[in-house]
Amino acid sequence: MKTRLTEMFDIELPIMLAGMGGVSYSDLVAAVSDAGGIGTFGAAPMSTELLVSEMARVRTLTNKPFGVDLLTASPDSIARNIQAIIDGGASIYVAGLGVPREIIDELHSHNILVGSMCGKVRHATAAVASGCDFVVAQGTEAGGHTGTVATMALVPQVVDAVKGKVPVVAAGGIFDGRGLVAALALGADGVWIGTKFIATNEAHTGTGYKQKMLEMAEDDTVISKAYTGKTCRVARTEWTQHFDEHPEELQGFPAQAIATIQAGIDHLGVGPDVILDTNKAFMAIGQAVGAIDEIKPARQVVAEIMDEARRTLERLADLK
Ligand SMILES: Cc1cc2nc3c(=O)[nH]c(=O)nc-3n(C[C@H](O)[C@H](O)[C@H](O)COP(=O)(O)O)c2cc1C
Repeated sequence: MKTRLTEMFDIELPIMLAGMGGVSYSDLVAAVSDAGGIGTFGAAPMSTELLVSEMARVRTLTNKPFGVDLLTASPDSIARNIQAIIDGGASIYVAGLGVPREIIDELHSHNILVGSMCGKVRHATAAVASGCDFVVAQGTEAGGHTGTVATMALVPQVVDAVKGKVPVVAAGGIFDGRGLVAALALGADGVWIGTKFIATNEAHTGTGYKQKMLEMAEDDTVISKAYTGKTCRVARTEWTQHFDEHPEELQGFPAQAIATIQAGIDHLGVGPDVILDTNKAFMAIGQAVGAIDEIKPARQVVAEIMDEARRTLERLADLK
């Protein structure tokens, strides 16, 4: 399936693995890239040493392109990691929480394409004006830090605002082939999927996270500042409930994130050897969770999305 995005990235399918901090590590990144989409590291919580070894590991698993996502909100980590990203052979760089203005030229000089996460139209126009090569329009349905505008309303407005200057990638609540086709119908050139890929064998999580997702309904997530001090869509837990009832105890970012670490419930980056207390743990999860009832290999997830997208296109063609 060819779109402007697949042409730009030189990949086969318009499916991007979202850069999920703590979750999108080498196994998952390599699996999605190898399946024909593109895997993106969620590198925000990684040390530079870990990012270097993880990127090297991808290269032992596939020679397909991959990307790295970092948060612009932590300029420290960008300064520390930029050379590693260039040396590690990433093809794309995606910035969460702000446009990475200072580093766009340097990344371009090493043929790395730059994308920006956008929750509003004005984020997208600012990203394009600063020289970003593509934008990810992320609706409120998304797991992780998120805004208030839904994917259905946001994507076509971002598409119109960027006026064809760059490809638009749709994110938030997309978990199957119908979602991919809907995103393309709204004018997007591909999809950036997080939640659905957490429920894969390759996703890097503590024990309990994936199992908890199998039990959750579509309305079991909540946008809360309880874990980081910023609005983040997470599984509703005793911890989010407590701060719903006691909003006066909430601190800003990063103080609230530090409080979460001190409480021993921020397990970002831990693997299956750590068993989570899922009544309290910080688990970023989107509204797509209600549709997830099985943990599968990531390659199978990609194949099923594409099969269903093709069937959906046929079904829609019959409507004419
Ligand atoms: C566990 C988790 C961690 C995330 N971490 C990041 C991050 O570090 N950087 C970022 O730009 N977005 C992050 N996000 C948001 C995703 O990149 C993506 O936009 C979102 O998952 C898409 O919506 P979906 O979850 O409905 O598929 C995270 C999302 C989840 C679920």
